[in-house]
Amino acid sequence: MTTWVLHTELSTDAVNLHLAALEAAGMLGIAEESGQARIYLPRHCADLPLTGRWEQVADLDWNEAWKAGIEPVTVGAVRIVPPWLAGDEGAAAVTLVIEPAQAFGTGHHETTTGCLAALQRLDLSGRRVLDVGTGTGVLALAAARLGAGEVVAVDTDPVAVATALGNGERNGLHLDVRHGSIEAAGAQTFDVVVANLDTATLVGLAAALPARLHDGGVLIAAGVSVQRQGEAVSALQAAGLAVGAHPGREWTLLMGRRASATPPASAEVPG
Ligand SMILES: C[S@@+](CC[C@H](N)C(=O)[O-])C[C@H]1O[C@@H](n2cnc3c(N)ncnc32)[C@H](O)[C@@H]1O
Repeated sequence: MTTWVLHTELSTDAVNLHLAALEAAGMLGIAEESGQARIYLPRHCADLPLTGRWEQVADLDWNEAWKAGIEPVTVGAVRIVPPWLAGDEGAAAVTLVIEPAQAFGTGHHETTTGCLAALQRLDLSGRRVLDVGTGTGVLALAAARLGAGEVVAVDTDPVAVATALGNGERNGLHLDVRHGSIEAAGAQTFDVVVANLDTATLVGLAAALPARLHDGGVLIAAGVSVQRQGEAVSALQAAGLAVGAHPGREWTLLMGRRASATPPASAEVPG
């Protein structure tokens, strides 16, 4: 048997957005080098929603190749390591062991690192945090380790829910992970809502977001492409949030605040 490799120009996280199609094609595994994912498949597939250079290689231990491509990532005080590198804590104050195989959220993607950095700019001590689109659970777990008093995570993908629960156990944290979208959080309100989604999903959920925030509560939203930033900002502003946009290389991070009944000393959106 030989193995086919599709050399893409995308990160593993970006490739994972097409996981269903790749699994249907019998994907054997993914390896990443210099931010570019190689996808291992049992055959050449012309109908994949991904492009790149195809190569036929001798059979190999693709699982080991995939593992070799995942390195720890550090964002501020938070370091994320895969299970096979557990113990490689570096100097970080918070280390999370995240199994990246089954869902989006290895910690490497620009949208995830933006959210991790934004969470660390807030004082989460004792706060209630909602993670919408939790994937591997990476942001929810980071919030819990950064001092949040209560964290609820939701995801519409049952595989992500199972992966996030597993990563909670792996890190000795019991995560409240619920299958569904924002409605799965019930009628509770939160001090912080973090939502790393895509532009269309965020715009679709915008009207429902303020009701999930306490007065003065903060929204961290990611997954918005720089080109579609205006669309997302307008939708969140129309929903009544004050919004600040922080464009990155490819993705814009949005920070929103629900107006407080009693205005805070500074009405500035945290940046
Ligand atoms: C880009 S990933 C983010 C994963 C992780 N939070 C991170 O920051 O790396 C988006 C996740 O949102 C989930 N998702 C997509 N639409 C959703 C929706 N309407 N409500 C909740 N989750 C959704 C997907 O299944 C996926 O796991």
